[in-house]
Amino acid sequence: MSDKQVVVALDIGTTKVCTIIARHYEGELEIVGVGSHPSYGLKKGSVINIDKTVRSIRCSLEEAKMMAGISNLNSATIGIAGNHIYCFNSTGVVPVRGSEITYEDVERVIEAAKAVVMPSDREILHVIPQEYKVDNTSDIKEPIGMHGVRLEANVHIVTGLTPLIQNLVKCVEQAGIGVEGVVLQPIASSRSVLSEEEKEAGIVLIDIGGGTTDLAVWKEGSLIHSEIIPVGGNHFTNDLAVALKIPHNESERVKIHHGCVLPEGLNQSAHITVQGLAGSSAREVQLSSIASVLGARAEELFQVVHDIIKEKNLESDINGGYVLTGGGALIKGLPELGEYVLERPVKLGFPKPFGGMTTIMQNPKFSTVLGLLLESDSSEITKDSSMHFHASDIIARFGKSLKSVFKEIF
Ligand SMILES: Nc1ncnc2c1ncn2[C@@H]1O[C@H](COP(=O)(O)OP(=O)(O)OP(=O)(O)O)[C@@H](O)[C@H]1O
Ligand SMILES: [Mg+2]
Repeated sequence: MSDKQVVVALDIGTTKVCTIIARHYEGELEIVGVGSHPSYGLKKGSVINIDKTVRSIRCSLEEAKMMAGISNLNSATIGIAGNHIYCFNSTGVVPVRGSEITYEDVERVIEAAKAVVMPSDREILHVIPQEYKVDNTSDIKEPIGMHGVRLEANVHIVTGLTPLIQNLVKCVEQAGIGVEGVVLQPIASSRSVLSEEEKEAGIVLIDIGGGTTDLAVWKEGSLIHSEIIPVGGNHFTNDLAVALKIPHNESERVKIHHGCVLPEGLNQSAHITVQGLAGSSAREVQLSSIASVLGARAEELFQVVHDIIKEKNLESDINGGYVLTGGGALIKGLPELGEYVLERPVKLGFPKPFGGMTTIMQNPKFSTVLGLLLESDSSEITKDSSMHFHASDIIARFGKSLKSVFKEIF
């Protein structure tokens, strides 16, 4: 199979690096290779050890290549998160040059909307149009061809710290593959988990990973807010390890196999045996005690989400409620507790099925990588093989809605 026919997505997470190779088959994307390897070089979504990160990426790539029967891959679409990501909304206004609005007018108004003052070490990853206003008519999604004299654009801008983006790109390049595009992880997860109707009605995607919880708020089909919270599933594991005085590995096992966030629903006498720290013997722990520890952390996390939604005045926009995804969303009882704290419907979101996808991929922890695959497939970059990212030249041009994304240091 030639590399030109394939699309590659690479999710470099805090707990795992996942690669998917897909190819077009009868007009559909079909997964032909999957690689997943533990990630050791990241903390809270950012690279803290280049060598370890490169090794994890390399292992994940090799596994996927072997499954796909491909010896060489040119480039991949990668995800980015971390608490260095900062997103905001902006507005631009331009006069329309001719009698009808053209593609160039739209490009100019997007340029105007992104002309905001930013620190020199920060760069724009995405400029996502939300709506256009032509003269006094608002809520326009496709202004090209319309008549008017004044064009206004509301956009959502995603920025990241240049050195941290460069570190991630450098790791990917050192692992032997180019970077085709960099996509904010919750945008990718939304792509694979949410339906168009949900995005239209107003919904919040909460991707609970290992190191971060990523939010994407959608309304009328557009991204209206995104935010990265530096708390993820690892914090639940750490809390349990400290509270029960057990090793981290044992805590992870207990969380995955016996974790729940609602102590009230459990039989108060039910208990399990846990391994103590080195030198101490195994002992019994009540399931309700485990649930109390995990429940406290979950309640705090949902409270942070609730505060963000209230602070940004988004409560009235999210009629569809909340969708939880990411591996960290798999702890039992999270949707129920979420409904209580967030006062809206909350459900668990799974990635949409793919051709050739083994059932193992239909797990919330693969939402981001599957979304990256969809973003990559729909982007202009995949059709423009001449354009590649380098650590020193980070430019993302992404998505149907993203006519242009620019490298710019203000
Ligand atoms: N069955 C399960 N029950 C509870 N928690 C789980 C389960 N499976 C995975 N997790 C937790 O999910 C987290 C990892 O999720 P995920 O794979 O989405 O993270 P990541 O993409 O590596 O990290 P990040 O997105 O934060 O960089 C870990 O904290 C892990 O303990
Ligand atoms: Mg993730």
